[in-house]
Amino acid sequence: MASVEVTRGDITDERVDAIVNAANESLLGGGGVDGAIHRGAGPELLAECRLLGGCDTGDAKATSGYCLPARWVIHTVGPVWRGGGRGEPELLDSCHRRSLDVAREVGARSVAFPAISCGLYGYPPELAAAVAVTAAREHGHDLELVRFVLFGDRAYDAFAAAASG
Ligand code: APR
Repeated sequence: MASVEVTRGDITDERVDAIVNAANESLLGGGGVDGAIHRGAGPELLAECRLLGGCDTGDAKATSGYCLPARWVIHTVGPVWRGGGRGEPELLDSCHRRSLDVAREVGARSVAFPAISCGLYGYPPELAAAVAVTAAREHGHDLELVRFVLFGDRAYDAFAAAASG
């Protein structure tokens, strides 16, 4: 059973085996976490992403981490929040479970997640945190550490509250 941690910070600084990227279906980069990870990894990351043929919402694919401290980047595509009645919770749960599966497949023992979908995609952090922490606890077996790395007070408070329950 993985230990689940919540911390503030920039996920590109995380010294874990794998960091999770909040990507889009093209996997060709973007802003937010996606932009920070591509800047930190360097241009080889985009070159590898081009070979992956995109990623469906709710799915996850791994690449090398290149210049990042993390050995792997696990790219997942979260749902855009449309009010909660369009399968968003199930897709967000799938992002976390698939990312944990891919982490196991590559042999990662420690994984750091950002608050997937909680930025541009508009998912309320309080609702996302419950989904994310539950998935980590239910599906994080075999891993030593699952760490949520949050920007900003609202996301941090939401994930800290979810993890204390
Ligand atoms: N480290 C940790 N968390 C970060 C970082 C960082 N360096 N940068 C941003 N965040 C936080 C945001 O504050 C937000 O809480 O990550 C969360 C996710 O926000 P986004 O990066 O906007 O991701 P998301 O909401 O899933 O939207 C994905 O945005 O960047 C594009 O290409 C991406 O189209 C995709 C969309």
